[in-house]
Amino acid sequence: MRTDQAGTKPLLRVLGGNREAIPPIWMMRQAGRYLPEYRAVREKAGGFLDLCLTPELAAEVTLQPVRRFGFDAAILFSDILIVPYALGRKLWFVEGEGPRLEPMDVGDIGRLRAELDWNIVARVYDAASQVSARLAGSPTALIGFCGAPWTVATYMIAGRGSADQAVAKEFAKRQPEAFAQLIDILVEASADYLAKQSECGAQVVQIFDSWAGSLAVEDFERWCVQPTKRLLAKLRAKGRNPKIIGFPRGAGKNIPRYVEQTGVDAVSLESGIDRDFARAEIQSRVPVQGNVDPQILLAGGDALDREVDDVLEKLGQGPLIFNLGHGILPQTPIANVERMLRKVRG
Ligand code: CP3
Repeated sequence: MRTDQAGTKPLLRVLGGNREAIPPIWMMRQAGRYLPEYRAVREKAGGFLDLCLTPELAAEVTLQPVRRFGFDAAILFSDILIVPYALGRKLWFVEGEGPRLEPMDVGDIGRLRAELDWNIVARVYDAASQVSARLAGSPTALIGFCGAPWTVATYMIAGRGSADQAVAKEFAKRQPEAFAQLIDILVEASADYLAKQSECGAQVVQIFDSWAGSLAVEDFERWCVQPTKRLLAKLRAKGRNPKIIGFPRGAGKNIPRYVEQTGVDAVSLESGIDRDFARAEIQSRVPVQGNVDPQILLAGGDALDREVDDVLEKLGQGPLIFNLGHGILPQTPIANVERMLRKVRG
């Protein structure tokens, strides 16, 4: 499992299979509303989408949490729904609710753009280049990302997030060929999108499959594992070799199989997964990332101390990237983040 291509950045050393005495640390959604400096820039930008697509501002908010907390990774500020937007779907964000897309029907699949709209994605690549230039020579690595085809498809079909993804699941059952066509388009577009982020300086990419947990075994294989495997193969066939972190959220006992089949370099663990299972069955195969419960980070105090200790005790003896099990909640006190960092860094 160990490789000798490990660089000088702690995150890359761990992704090369090494254990660090103090694990590298970053947080999912680390650039976001819990930071006053983020809220200030977002207000200046207008909307969330404007912020994502103005390279100078996206680069600035990407770097804010790195400056404040000295994180080992900067994750490019963007959103997984930029891909459907750049494939020609309408996208908007409703304040206090979340993203909306125009729901899709079978006929819409054939009308998607053949390639990502350059006027949109070039702005994302520009932001990545700006961040990468500013991180040159620092111990902080740049992480690019995309949504996994299944998760992105659930938003495209239903037009919004839902607790059970029932609309997309029903679509996939009734029209499996059409759904497979949509997944293929997303595999192709996402491979291209990640390859370009890698060319612009992302040493690592994370694939967010936030709704992987809603798929039963066979569908998990068909709509999560196989598309992710093809995405990785296409990315590598383009001559790009960033380290790849998979985040099949909610996949639990299916994660070892996901690792074996897809060839991801590391797995981001959801909160709630059994950490003994994760050590024995996942960390024995690849480095893991995680997995403080964002609710406990919100609560702080002794509960947070115990949670941090548990992560370090159960996962800290192997290659670990310290992180949360899902995105930080907007109401999280900054003092709790500082408390967590002090505890991890000693
Ligand atoms: O982690 C980071 O700091 C990088 C940026 C990032 C965002 N979204 C910014 C964002 C990343 C990696 C994402 C991924 C993303 N986006 C996922 C996968 C991870 C997950 O959370 O499961 C999903 C499902 C989305 C789609 C999305 N975007 C939703 C459901 C929402 C609304 C929920 C919310 O937190 O408001 C968004 C909006 C969004 N994306 C915000 C941020 C900072 C909040 C926007 C704001 O400033 O109002």
